[in-house]
Amino acid sequence: MDRRGDEPRGLSSHDRAVSAALAASFQEGWQDTDLKVPRTSGADYAARRRAAVSDRFPGERIVIPSGGFKIRSNDFDYPFRPHTAFVHLTAEQAADAIPDSVLVFEPTGQGHTVLLFTRGRSPRDGGPNGAEFYSDRRHGEFWIGRRRTLAETADALGLEVAPRDTLERALAGDTPTRVLRGEDALVDSLVPENTRDETELRTFLSELRLVKDEWEIAQLRAAVGFTVAGFHDVARELPRATALARGERWIEGTFNRAARLEGYGLGFETIAAAGAHACALHWMRNDGPVREGDALLLDAGVEADSFYTGDVSRTIPVSGRFTDVQRRVYDLVFAAQSAGIAAVRPGARFGDFHEAAMRVIAEGLDSWGLRPSADSATTPAADRYRRYTLCGSGHMLGLDCHDCASARTENYLGGVLEPGHVLTVEPGLYFQPDDLTIPEELRGIGMRIEDDFVVTADGVECLSSGLPRHPDEVEAWTTALRSA
Ligand code: GLY
Ligand code: MN
Repeated sequence: MDRRGDEPRGLSSHDRAVSAALAASFQEGWQDTDLKVPRTSGADYAARRRAAVSDRFPGERIVIPSGGFKIRSNDFDYPFRPHTAFVHLTAEQAADAIPDSVLVFEPTGQGHTVLLFTRGRSPRDGGPNGAEFYSDRRHGEFWIGRRRTLAETADALGLEVAPRDTLERALAGDTPTRVLRGEDALVDSLVPENTRDETELRTFLSELRLVKDEWEIAQLRAAVGFTVAGFHDVARELPRATALARGERWIEGTFNRAARLEGYGLGFETIAAAGAHACALHWMRNDGPVREGDALLLDAGVEADSFYTGDVSRTIPVSGRFTDVQRRVYDLVFAAQSAGIAAVRPGARFGDFHEAAMRVIAEGLDSWGLRPSADSATTPAADRYRRYTLCGSGHMLGLDCHDCASARTENYLGGVLEPGHVLTVEPGLYFQPDDLTIPEELRGIGMRIEDDFVVTADGVECLSSGLPRHPDEVEAWTTALRSA
C-alpha cells in the first residue's frame, strides 16, 4: 500500500523556483470566497451509523481514516477515493472529499463524541504552512483547487471538525483504541498495534453495510440508472467500434465517458470483452477488435457521486442477431439467471440463488452431453461443472462493487436474505478457447447476464430493469440502438 498520501509534494525538476519576492506576493491581495456548501442529504443517515459504532464499542477510541492519495506515476496520483468505511460513516461526496481526513470516536461517560480531523484551506498568511498554496502540488490549492474550510466541512457533513495537525495530540494517551490500519501512515504510527482486535472492527464495519437504508437504496438506484444509460450509449456505438482496430477500447471509452459525466467514475474497471476475450472473467485489457458476428460481454458500473456503484453485465450480439450457437449458450445463461432471480426473497438463504442458477446450468450442460463428471447434475460433484462457470453467481453490492467483503461467512454466504440487502445475480458460461473437453463450436464463447436487486419486504426489485434481458429483446434493443 502506498502510504505517502499525507506527504507534501514539492515542486518538480521542471518547475521554476519561487523567489522570495514572489513568495511574499502570495501573502496578500486575495478576496474571501464563500462556497455555500449544502448539507449532504445523507448526513442524518451517516449519524445513525456512527451511533451504531458507538454502541458497539463503548469506552474505546475508534479511528477511521479516509486514506490519502495513491501515486500513479512519479508526481501524479490516482483520483482520490476515500475508504468505504469512512464514506459510510460520513456520507462524504465525491469531488468534495478531502484526503487524509480521520474520523475519531472519543469515548465519554455516555458514549462517544465524534470529531473529524481534516485539512482546511491552504493558508496564505506566510505562517508555517504558508507555502503550501503554491509549492505543494499535492495539497496546495493553486495546484488542485479550492478545498472547503473546516467550518464548511462541518456544515456539509454535520460533524464537529478539527485540523488534521492536531491529530497527534488527540490520539495520545492510553485510551484503548481500535484503528482501521493500513490507510494512514501517521495514524498507524501514533497508535501501537494490537491494543485491541482490529479484525473485529473491520468485520463490524463491513456487516454494518449489509442492510442498506432508504437513502443508500436511493443512491444505488441512481448509480444503476447511470449504469443502464451507459449501456444504451454503448449499443449506439457498436457500428463505430466494429470499424476500429481496438474496438473494445471504444466501448470502454464510451461507457467511461457516461460514468464520468453522471457519476464520480467507475465502480471497477470496465470489462469490454468481444469474442473469446469474454472467456476471461475480468478482461480489462480491452485491446481487441469488436467484430460483426461477435458477442460482446460488457460488465460495467457507474460509481455515483455518493460513491455507491452499479454492476451490470450484458452479452450483446454485435450484429443485432446471435448466431445459433451463441443463442443456445445465451438461452441457458438466461434460464439460469431467471432461476436465480426467482430464488431471491426475504428469508431465503444467500446461497439459494447460486444453487438454483448452477442447477439449471449443470442440467443444461448435461443435456448437451457435456458432463465433466459421471455424477448427476444435482449432486455435490456438480461442482465440476464450474470448469465452465468458475465464480459464484452474485455478491452484495453497495459502496464497494463486492460489498461487505469482511462480513463473517455466517452472515453473508451462509446468511439469510432480508429487506435492504442489495445484490447482483450474474451466472455465466465461459468456454475457454483451448478447452479440449468441449465441442469446437462452443470454444471461445463467454456469456454473463448480471442485474442488480434490492430485497424488499415481500420479494425483490430489479434496479437494472431498464435494460432488456430476454434474448429476443436484447436482439431488438441492439438492432434499434445500433442504427439510431
Ligand atoms: N462486475 C465485476 C464482478 O462482479 O466481479
Ligand atoms: Mn458483479
